[in-house]
Amino acid sequence: MEKEFEVTPYEAKGEVNYDKLIKEFGVEKINSALLGRIKKHTGELHVLLRRGVFFAHRDINWLLDEYEKGNKFFLYTGRASSKGSKVHIGHLIPWIMCKWLQDKFGAEMWFQFPDEEKFLYKPDLTLDDTKNATYEDMLDVIALGFNPKKTFFLIDTLHAGIMYKEACKVAKKITFSTIKSSFGFTDSNNVGSIFYTSMQAVPAFLPSVLKGKNIPCLIPLGVDQDPHFRISRDVMPKLGYYKPAILHNIFIPPITGLGGKMSASSGSDSAILTTDSPSEVKRKINKYAFSGGRDTIEEHRKSGGNPDIDISFQYLKMMLEPDDSKLENIEKDYRSGRLLSGELKAILIEKINAFLKSHQDKREKAGKEIDKFIFKAK
Ligand code: TYM
Repeated sequence: MEKEFEVTPYEAKGEVNYDKLIKEFGVEKINSALLGRIKKHTGELHVLLRRGVFFAHRDINWLLDEYEKGNKFFLYTGRASSKGSKVHIGHLIPWIMCKWLQDKFGAEMWFQFPDEEKFLYKPDLTLDDTKNATYEDMLDVIALGFNPKKTFFLIDTLHAGIMYKEACKVAKKITFSTIKSSFGFTDSNNVGSIFYTSMQAVPAFLPSVLKGKNIPCLIPLGVDQDPHFRISRDVMPKLGYYKPAILHNIFIPPITGLGGKMSASSGSDSAILTTDSPSEVKRKINKYAFSGGRDTIEEHRKSGGNPDIDISFQYLKMMLEPDDSKLENIEKDYRSGRLLSGELKAILIEKINAFLKSHQDKREKAGKEIDKFIFKAK
């Protein structure tokens, strides 16, 4: 029987049911007790936690137990660049969470740019393509405001000298059959792609190797990346390291409607890219944003719109309107029919463009900063 949806690092198909995914992946739902425990340390909860964009986790209670004993953790996440797939606002979700956690916990941030990953998976890409795209993507990461003294970029081909040995230790403990069943691979996948998951495991314990002591690790990521760590978490204790804790976010949906994953490779009209101009944003939202409004103004005024399926409202809720009372008013007005679909889109367009203006200003200056972020072994 065909599955109603499928999520792997290389494909998100169908309408994702996150409750079912929690069971399928064997992760835990984030509940109010855990949020309360996080808040005890952070003083407030980030909007992405309050609104359930981060919805699941592995071992966060263990991580906080260690933290409370004085055993500080480091953060790890990543981005696999490719020519045809620029950074969109969905990619920023785990990175924004990392920046917030870095500030709140004073944590080191290890950011991996596996510049071989998409090269191995996409037939037409060259290593030069992914190198150039990696440069562009670093600008987006830096623009989010990470602390250069506590943030370390690892680029797989550049840092192979310190990473490869560790990846081999991981790879020795993973069988081809595990990879096949986890990623849906067949005998015709190239051997580089079969090995790759071992490289993605390395930054989760590399700081422990470099500092000669075991350090807990927390990985905020989109839930599609969980299968890599489901495999490598089993391996790490066998090498003498802690299993990393994980915080999972849902997908920011495409402009065209709920259920799936915003993705720049499936047509940039369904994604808001971090490099989009104000007029591009306006065109995309006005033309493509799935609306929960009624067919005519009369009908809308009479029966009201449905924010639960309206992409503009959902983007505001998921990331762009952090003020709870403003969001509540928008929701009320939309449900009652006082706010029209075009007016709701205009609110969203303004919010996105304000965010992008500030992001793009910082992105433009980030080129000069890159060198400070690239990890240099002492
Ligand atoms: P990549 O480059 O495909 O995606 C980067 C991060 O963005 C998340 N993501 C999304 N989150 C919310 N909404 C969306 N629509 C959306 N689309 C993508 C992804 O889940 C990911 O967290 N193999 C990785 C790179 C990597 C990595 C890591 C990721 C290397 N080490 C450690 C997470 C943690 C990749 O291809 O990500």
